[in-house]
Amino acid sequence: MRSQTIAAEPAPHPITTTFPGRDLVSIRDLSPLELESLFHLASLIKTRPEEFRAALAGKHIAMFFEKPSLRTRITFEAAICGLGGSVSFIDQRHERLDARETLNDIAHNLERWVGGIVLRTFAHETVEGMAEHACVPVINALSEVEHPCQALADYFTLQEKFGDLRKITLAYVGDGNNVMHSLLLTAALLGSKIRLGTPKGYGANPQILADAREIAKQTGAVIELMSDPRKAVRGVDAVYTDAWTSMGHEHETDERARIFPPYQVNNELIAVAAPHAVFMHCLPAHRNEEVTDAVIDSVRSIVFDQAENRMHVQKAILTMLIGGKTRQPLRSAHA
Ligand code: CP
Repeated sequence: MRSQTIAAEPAPHPITTTFPGRDLVSIRDLSPLELESLFHLASLIKTRPEEFRAALAGKHIAMFFEKPSLRTRITFEAAICGLGGSVSFIDQRHERLDARETLNDIAHNLERWVGGIVLRTFAHETVEGMAEHACVPVINALSEVEHPCQALADYFTLQEKFGDLRKITLAYVGDGNNVMHSLLLTAALLGSKIRLGTPKGYGANPQILADAREIAKQTGAVIELMSDPRKAVRGVDAVYTDAWTSMGHEHETDERARIFPPYQVNNELIAVAAPHAVFMHCLPAHRNEEVTDAVIDSVRSIVFDQAENRMHVQKAILTMLIGGKTRQPLRSAHA
């Protein structure tokens, strides 16, 4: 794969840190040091975007989405164009990606034409299968199991707000979905503290929880599980929630509407968090279901910072996986 040097000025520590040709299917694809480098690059790109305008020059990216999207589609398209690449968006909402031909054949076609593939799918196995068959990088833009780009942007946003992520606690309350899984794994890699407040039967995938706990043994992360939302939120620095019914589970909407109301993030619940606590949501929000207008529209809310940072963090992901070499310090200011 052709490499290129992007930064115009010598970096303080001229260590080349990229992982060209790799995939981002799960947060588990990153090491703690790679995650730190990714955040550092995202910070550089956010503050000095002009220095990265040719990072994807000559590269074409294909995006296949089986589910609707506002943020992920636009932030990837803006990121790719902002890095000098070009993009094809293929709307797969009416036919699963592998309905017409095998994933294997699609992968071997795509790898002849494009520098990377971005997928939003129902089945996590579709992203894994594309990554296995295609010899160009594959990025998970949301599957039923994980939403890694979202969680990376979320913790990058928290780093901007709080600095050292090892000193803060995030409470996720609500449905144990793909976003929660990626937040859990990211917290584990960062050595941060996370509390998961979910109803019984709606907790984390056991394999992801086991993997997060294994990572936490090495990083010092603290993972706490509880079903009482008030206990989960007590004293935390950040309160995060998401839709009670994720895409693909619409047939469970009525049952979930009976179970989840105690997990609504409203003024009463967020008052239990630290006085400086921020409110987070990946969006789209179902206002006055999982979060009230009073909270999402309050000064605590950082939901649009999260949405903005999707673009900057995805630029860093694309540069590291597809853009070739960048010169950057290995450790961030918070190391
Ligand atoms: N947060 C998120 O992934 O938003 P979209 O579904 O609009 O892409």
